[in-house]
Parts: sequence; C-alpha cells; structure tokens
Amino acid sequence: MSYRIAVIPGDGTGPEVVAEGLKVLKAVAGPPGIKFDFHSYDLGGERYLHTGETLPDSVVEELRGFNAIYLGAIGHPDVQPGILEKGILLKARFELDQYINLRPVILYPGVDTPLKDKGPEDIEFVVVRENTEGLYAGAGGHLKYGTPDEVAIQTSINTRKGVDRCLKFAFEMARKRNKDKKLTLVAKTNVLTFASGLWFRAFEAMAPQYPDITTDYAHVDATCMWFVKNPEWFDVVVTDNMFGDIITDLGAIIQGGMGVAAGGNINPEGVSMFEPIGGSAPKYTGLQVVNPIAAIAAAQMMLETLGEEKAAKAIEAGIKKCAAQDMKSMAAGKMGLTTGQVGDKIAQYAAEAL
Ligand code: IPM
Ligand code: MN
Repeated sequence: MSYRIAVIPGDGTGPEVVAEGLKVLKAVAGPPGIKFDFHSYDLGGERYLHTGETLPDSVVEELRGFNAIYLGAIGHPDVQPGILEKGILLKARFELDQYINLRPVILYPGVDTPLKDKGPEDIEFVVVRENTEGLYAGAGGHLKYGTPDEVAIQTSINTRKGVDRCLKFAFEMARKRNKDKKLTLVAKTNVLTFASGLWFRAFEAMAPQYPDITTDYAHVDATCMWFVKNPEWFDVVVTDNMFGDIITDLGAIIQGGMGVAAGGNINPEGVSMFEPIGGSAPKYTGLQVVNPIAAIAAAQMMLETLGEEKAAKAIEAGIKKCAAQDMKSMAAGKMGLTTGQVGDKIAQYAAEAL
C-alpha cells in the first residue's frame, strides 16, 4: 500500500526525534510493500514568530487529504503559553475531529520504572482519552478581567454523542486487545454529578452490547493511586479529556518517562495524527540526547492504525530489543547512545524482525 503522510517536525527536539521515526518507517517499508510519500510542514514556534501564523485553515484543508499526520512537538520558549498549543495542536485535533487520544502505557523489558516491585507483566494497559470535548472545548469566559473582582468560567462540555463514540472505541479496543477484556471508566461521579453522571450512564447503557468485556469504574483521584499501587489491574481505561491528560502523564512516568510515551490522536473515520507526548524539550535542542523511542512508538501506532500490522509489530520488536540490550536509561542524556544511534539500532532490529 502507498500512504501520503504529512510530517510536522515542529519545535525544539521535535525534528530530531521525527528524523528517527522516519528512519525506522523507511527501514520497515520494503518487504511488506509499503510506500510512503512524506510531505513536511514547517508549523511551530519559529513560523509563528516570523509570520504570526499557527495552523492556517488552508493547511488544515491540505491535511485532510493525507492518510495520516506524524508530529514531533509543539512548544517554543519565546512564545506565550497557550498560543501554539491552542493554535496548532488543539486546532488540529478539533478540526480533524480526532476524538480519541490513544495512549498506551507499556513498560518495555529492561526499562526502569519508579514503581517498586513492578515489571513489564504489571504495566501494560492503554488509556482512551476523549480528545475533542470536556474542559478543552473552550467554553467559558471572563468577567471584570484583570480586576480584583474577576470572574473566570471554564465549562466542561460533554455530549452524549461525544461520550458514546469514545466509549464505543474503548469497548472495541478491549475486545481487540483480547488481554484481560476489561474496561475501566475513570470519572468523578461523586462530585461531577452532571458530567461524570452522563459518562457513567452512557457506560452502563453500552455495556450489555459487550457481554465479553468486564466493566469497572474508578474515581480519577483513586485512579492516580491505583496506577502506582496496582497498575496490573488495568487493561483499557476510558476517560474524559482533562482527566485523560492528567492520568496519562502519570502513566508515562511509570512506563519509564516521557522519552517512551507515545500518543495517537485518532479519527477512526478520518485523518489521525501521531506524536510523542513529551513536548519540545527546548533545552536539549540539537544535542542529540533525547530519547526517540516515544516518536518511534508513535510511528508504530500510525502503522497499526493504517492496518500495517506486520511492520508495526517489527517496530515494536525493534524498540524492545534496543531498550533491553543497548540503552543504559530512557532519560535524556543518560541513554549511553545518541538520539541518532538509538534510531539506527531500532531501524536495524525492526528490519531484521520483519
Ligand atoms: C498533551 C498535552 C496537550 C494537552 C497540551 C500541550 C495542549 O499536554 O498532549 O497531553 O493538554 O492535551
Ligand atoms: Mn498532557
């Protein structure tokens, strides 16, 4: 198959890690007969500082014509927080209706976790985060801005359609993974009786359609405790946008840190976007010290979503082998290899695993 991929290297260390992801994609393309046509877009902080543009509507229209989008990182120290995040990342998620943010939490063999007495067999779950609604919808406003009487309102938007499509994806994911066949809803039904109440009722209403899936519920605060104490309880977790943002950073650290954590912004009926979730790490820019595994795992997820299971599995095997055999640590500057060398190893192992 042939795929048109939009590549957004972005800011900081984004371009360095994206280069390694592309290297690995090229290494696994040949034997399965995959062809990639990569188109690069210079979106990010530099473009904004020069032109004032974030993600122009004309580019959004172009992005709709690709099979997938591969993103490095967005975030620039000279740009006020919020502008690039809202203008590029969130705009892409919303405009392309990427309503799922899929975040696997996998501890690869040989990788250190801060959790005492937990290993790869305990930490292997996936968080399905709703990605277009909730507190991220941008509903709200200020009154008496900047005065001592200021009022700030930020409303969480939860629609039955939005909740249902997210839950459906999560139930299907639990079935497809065929692991513990368990789906845990994470919310806050004891306080957010309207928003979490809707999630809970929709969850209960959908469960009978999936008699093979065990359902469970956990409050978000308790979830933070269980991720640390009993990560083995989780198989598929489904939650809203804000809670998903928070618990997946916790997920990232128990799997070895931001250097390993990948995410997919998925529109099952449209164009999806894959990214390492660690950000642009400006202080490391150009030093070849950041871990490209998260970006490479994002490329793997892109192949999975495109239906290229075999090539995706080969990348996973390559990541596991490199993490276990060749790397001293997953942390930036402590890998014992450069960013490029990690990419070289994974590309080689992945090609061998085909
Ligand atoms: C993430 C990030 C983004 C989010 C920010 C940068 C807008 O934290 O992808 O988790 O909150 O979704
Ligand atoms: Mn986040």
